[in-house]
Amino acid sequence: MTAEQDPVKLMKQQVGFAAADRVQSGMIVGLGTGSTTAYTIQALGDRIKSGQLKDIKGVPTSFQSEVLAKQYGVPLTTLDEIDRIDVAIDGADEVDPHLNLIKGGGAAHTREKVVDYLATQFIVVVDSSKIVDKLGSTFRVPIEVIPMALTPVMRAIEKLGGKPELRMGVKKAGPVITDQGNMVIDVKFDDIANPGEMEKTLNNIPGVLENGLFVDCTDLVLVGEIQDGKPVVREISK
Ligand code: 5RP
Repeated sequence: MTAEQDPVKLMKQQVGFAAADRVQSGMIVGLGTGSTTAYTIQALGDRIKSGQLKDIKGVPTSFQSEVLAKQYGVPLTTLDEIDRIDVAIDGADEVDPHLNLIKGGGAAHTREKVVDYLATQFIVVVDSSKIVDKLGSTFRVPIEVIPMALTPVMRAIEKLGGKPELRMGVKKAGPVITDQGNMVIDVKFDDIANPGEMEKTLNNIPGVLENGLFVDCTDLVLVGEIQDGKPVVREISK
């Protein structure tokens, strides 16, 4: 099946391209991680090549986005060299009605949180399957943990009522190792009543580097949908 025939890929492509259209010359852009933002990075590269976009710089949120930016010709910078990020464009695994998110499906949520939270405007790009009534309904909360603290962190999470599972690699024996050299546990919670409180509680466990709850940070969500057989992009803002 080609990208054009697969509706989910088509929605991701449409919404990824739509986000790239919002970037203007001279901007510093946070480059998110995942299959949706891969289309954004590709489209930014195309706009640079055509001369439509000039003097932009990207701040990657992962090794993946760094590699893609180099592949598509998007110039990169680092947080040491800049004093602002104008816009960050990133994917999500769940979006709730308050525009709070679960992220970390690609184990990149720690760097994503640093870059996305620094941006003047944070745009989230998702296909329609990511919209939920309540966080935690379809996706578990990813938590990046330093390896020596894995066992006590898992015990502490069980005490909070969560069911933690170490994320294992695909086509790689053993656990997923993050870009920082840590491990990720995915935690099922029966009810995340207050995402903001849960975010703080999880990050207070010694050994936890960062969790995938992104609360009160999103400015705009672009949702790729299929309507009457055609892909369209819907905007949700606060
Ligand atoms: C990576 C992320 C991704 O943005 C999230 O998993 C969405 O990915 P995709 O666009 O492939 O559905 O948080 O850590």
